[in-house]
Amino acid sequence: MIYFVTSNKGKYAEAQAIFGDLVQRDIGYAEIQADTLEEVALYGMKEVAARLDGAVMLEDAGLFVEALQGFPGVYSAYVQKTIGNAGILRLMGALENRSAYFKSVVAYVEPGMDAVMFSGEVQGQIGFEARGKKGFGYDPIFYVGEVSLGEMDLEKKNQISHRAKSMSALKKWRGNR
Ligand code: IMP
Repeated sequence: MIYFVTSNKGKYAEAQAIFGDLVQRDIGYAEIQADTLEEVALYGMKEVAARLDGAVMLEDAGLFVEALQGFPGVYSAYVQKTIGNAGILRLMGALENRSAYFKSVVAYVEPGMDAVMFSGEVQGQIGFEARGKKGFGYDPIFYVGEVSLGEMDLEKKNQISHRAKSMSALKKWRGNR
């Protein structure tokens, strides 16, 4: 059994489909202002590992838009809360370069060991409109091929997503010990 520290039900559902033995803990932690997802995840992990006894996992993710020099990146949660998907579409306007990627960094720790981290990315395009009501966050504006993540079932998203990649790497690492 692993504690997955997150307030995000969508993230939990995706992770649970991969691991099968997760317990969601919505205990909150400081998300520091830093340049990389790795720093944010590691700092958060230090805080939660001190408060939970057992195997603990947390994840930090971000959307990186090429034409916006990687924005919103590590500020993805704040930007989603403030300008949201409509704001990103507005910023993009009619720009031709719609390339973007999602990155996920998962941190994992057990008592007596140093934290380990695994990352995963999925390449895609920012669409011209939001489509689909599945998933969460930026999913409706992030397209892989003709389909937005917001139109994909969890099973389909979990075949290609940044989170599925980082978490599958962690799962494999645990299995190999
Ligand atoms: P965080 O990892 O919870 O800090 O997520 C940063 C922001 O990116 C939040 O607003 C999330 O909703 C959004 N986000 C994270 N992962 C995904 C995803 O898989 N799809 C769409 N949005 C995501």
